[in-house]
Amino acid sequence: MNPIDELKEVAQEVSICTRCELYHSRKNAVPGEGPASAKIMFIGEGPGFHENEMGRPFVGAAGKFLEELLATINLKRSEVFITNVVKCRPPGNRDPLPDELSACSSYLERQIQAINPRVIVTLGRFSMARFLPNVRISDVHGQSFQIRGRLVVPMFHPAAALHQASLKPAVERDFSRLPELIAKATEAPEIKDAAVEEKKEPKQLSLF
Ligand code: URA
Ligand code: SF4
Repeated sequence: MNPIDELKEVAQEVSICTRCELYHSRKNAVPGEGPASAKIMFIGEGPGFHENEMGRPFVGAAGKFLEELLATINLKRSEVFITNVVKCRPPGNRDPLPDELSACSSYLERQIQAINPRVIVTLGRFSMARFLPNVRISDVHGQSFQIRGRLVVPMFHPAAALHQASLKPAVERDFSRLPELIAKATEAPEIKDAAVEEKKEPKQLSLF
């Protein structure tokens, strides 16, 4: 299936998904949005109040901050793909549970395969843990990791920086380094067969 159709198919499946308990409390599922040709993908935690109302990712206060951060590096949100590790809102914005994360995981995997982004920016602990299971965000934020042929850059969640002002300079600094990382990742040869590679080496990480 071509990437645009695959993203539509994922969004359609997510909208009626009952694979985990989160479907009970959702108003709208939030599959994510952005162009299938995006070179960079941002992955947050899960929909909050406003996202659940609108069915779109990062449309509340954290989203506004994310857009401001993107603007500082001359990117518009319409140029990047934005999604979450769980597509339905956890009640009261609680953390997603392990069985919810694993139930939802194949949708994100299909989005990554369809888009084949050169750079993935994880926002917060839960999306970081998907790629870097045994690290602490305070140790690795802003660093880049070559994982299964892509550059993964873990960052603090923008909402964390809004709640804890001391994190804001780190978030801004991490963002300011992104253009350089994107340029480097775009120069590297394209991964043609990431799907096959990821199936063969599901756990392999190379960190540098
Ligand atoms: N926080 C997230 O992690 N995701 C959203 O979509 C909005 C806020
Ligand atoms: Fe399905 Fe994911 Fe929503 Fe759970 S969070 S119901 S797995 S789309």
